[in-house]
Amino acid sequence: MRVITDSTTLRNALHPLRQRGQRIALVPTMGNLHEGHLALITEARKHASFVVCTIFVNPMQFGPTEDLDAYPRTLEQDIARLEAAGCHALFTPSVAEMYPLGHQQHTVVSVPGLSEGYCGASRPGHFDGVATVVCKLFNLVQPDTAVFGLKDYQQFLVIRRMVADLCLPIALVGVPTQREPSGLALSSRNGYLSAEEKARAATLVRSLREAASALQSGTAVAVVEAQASRTLQEAGFRPDYFSVCHAQTLAPATAQDDDLVILAAAWMGKTRLIDNLTLSRHKA
Ligand code: PAF
Repeated sequence: MRVITDSTTLRNALHPLRQRGQRIALVPTMGNLHEGHLALITEARKHASFVVCTIFVNPMQFGPTEDLDAYPRTLEQDIARLEAAGCHALFTPSVAEMYPLGHQQHTVVSVPGLSEGYCGASRPGHFDGVATVVCKLFNLVQPDTAVFGLKDYQQFLVIRRMVADLCLPIALVGVPTQREPSGLALSSRNGYLSAEEKARAATLVRSLREAASALQSGTAVAVVEAQASRTLQEAGFRPDYFSVCHAQTLAPATAQDDDLVILAAAWMGKTRLIDNLTLSRHKA
């Protein structure tokens, strides 16, 4: 696997592949790779003969009080994992390479509507940072396909809208969340949890599953959301949001909506975890 740190070398490496008609798939990440990321590489290999992974801890998507400095950076281990997973190239630029004038001075790609609620409300500017860096990575790599994890469900919809609005010729693929045996969604931020917190953190997915089955049994959205908040608090979580939404628009679910997603974010100690579950309210 080739490891590339600057944009010119990246473009020069990819140009001849494209000329030869090879398909390119992109897997953007922030590193500290776990099985969830490796599933994205495996998926990417089904769509293209050349897979590019990017590792860039993007300062533009972190708020001033968030964990940018503490975010785990494990490049040597990540390179070994990507090689074993059959990735062909890793682009891992510096902050100066991506934002030569600093990210505050940078053009912003902003997706209205979908970016505004849930994580967008709790983390102002977060999705502008995500959309901007992903747009830059798309322009640098010019992939045929880009693969993202559906654990970041709202992020996936924001990127999907950006691709449609900006007429980018890129097929997006979302990969289902990979989970520990307890059900806890794999996340780089799980590394912040103590063993005891991690055991309690599986309540997040349990509350999503219980909410889904209550909705399918006809319980009203408000009742389901309130019950889930109580369950999370009893497990020691501080809920940020637990919301039943229309799966495509993310508008609060109405009684008529069938295509639903339950979005959840909650703090376990100093760690903010997110998870989600899609469902059809009326089981087939
Ligand atoms: O999901 C992530 O890891 C990041 O938000 C992404 C898409 C790589 C952009 O920095």
